[in-house]
Amino acid sequence: MSTVEAGLAALTAVLAEGGVEGAGREAAMLLAHVLDLPRDRLALSRGEVLDDGALAQAMALAARRAAGEPMSHLRGWREFWGRRFAVDARVLDPRPETEVLIAAALEEPFADVLDLGSGSGCILLTLLAEREAARGVGTDVSGAALEVARANAAALGLVGRAGFIETDWWAGLRGRFDLIVSNPPYIALAEMEGLQRELSHEPRMALTDEGDGLSAYRAIAAGLGDRLAPGGRVLVEIGPSQSAAVSALFAAAGLGEIRVLPDLDGRDRVVAARG
Ligand SMILES: C[S@@+](CC[C@H](N)C(=O)[O-])C[C@H]1O[C@@H](n2cnc3c(N)ncnc32)[C@H](O)[C@@H]1O
Repeated sequence: MSTVEAGLAALTAVLAEGGVEGAGREAAMLLAHVLDLPRDRLALSRGEVLDDGALAQAMALAARRAAGEPMSHLRGWREFWGRRFAVDARVLDPRPETEVLIAAALEEPFADVLDLGSGSGCILLTLLAEREAARGVGTDVSGAALEVARANAAALGLVGRAGFIETDWWAGLRGRFDLIVSNPPYIALAEMEGLQRELSHEPRMALTDEGDGLSAYRAIAAGLGDRLAPGGRVLVEIGPSQSAAVSALFAAAGLGEIRVLPDLDGRDRVVAARG
């Protein structure tokens, strides 16, 4: 028998040994998950006895985390804009930086939203949950990712307003949308090797275009003329070095009011434009 405090120390050591940043915080997340307790409740229980089985379960998860598996896969969910999204190896683990795009999208009203490369559905479903009169479509070339997105739509009670289509960017889409959003794969092939350990648990097609990191933006820019409603907005997430190139693609596609928005670390993160 151990105490919660001793268990947290043991878990923290395993995570720190594996090079996990914020090992103490993540140890608490894992133990709270195993004990099915909110994290603040765990903080109040530090002196309490910790069951051997629970500690063994948490230690096994800590070993997987130390080997690079994302926390979201261990818990089966990730919080995004205050809601839980089911996440597994079929989809990109939603990132906090993507909330910059959500905040910008919510600055103005919209009725019909298209999310290109919807992955877990975190962008589309958040926007629909925040705007009860809006409808939307999410597309992905990965049928496996769409299964996760559809399950998230059901869990959030959004099935009636969210449709999902398996397609390659614009193929087969019809109609016009007053808001088009995308967080496409933007890591250049040359950068992938250095990120191997961190990203090896996520679908490669969610991360890289196997080229210069800009081919998804080229494809997206090429289709906007047919699908963006007059005066409608486009918002895309970008890698920090891509703002000039993506702004130029949008300008060449005839868009105006092009803005680059930073994330909380001050890095360029979103390009916004108007049709
Ligand atoms: C960076 S992930 C973003 C997922 C989700 N929107 C998010 O923000 O967490 C990019 C997504 O684009 C999808 N994708 C890649 N190539 C695509 C293509 N040619 N057409 C449509 N979707 C594509 C991937 O399968 C992946 O789900």
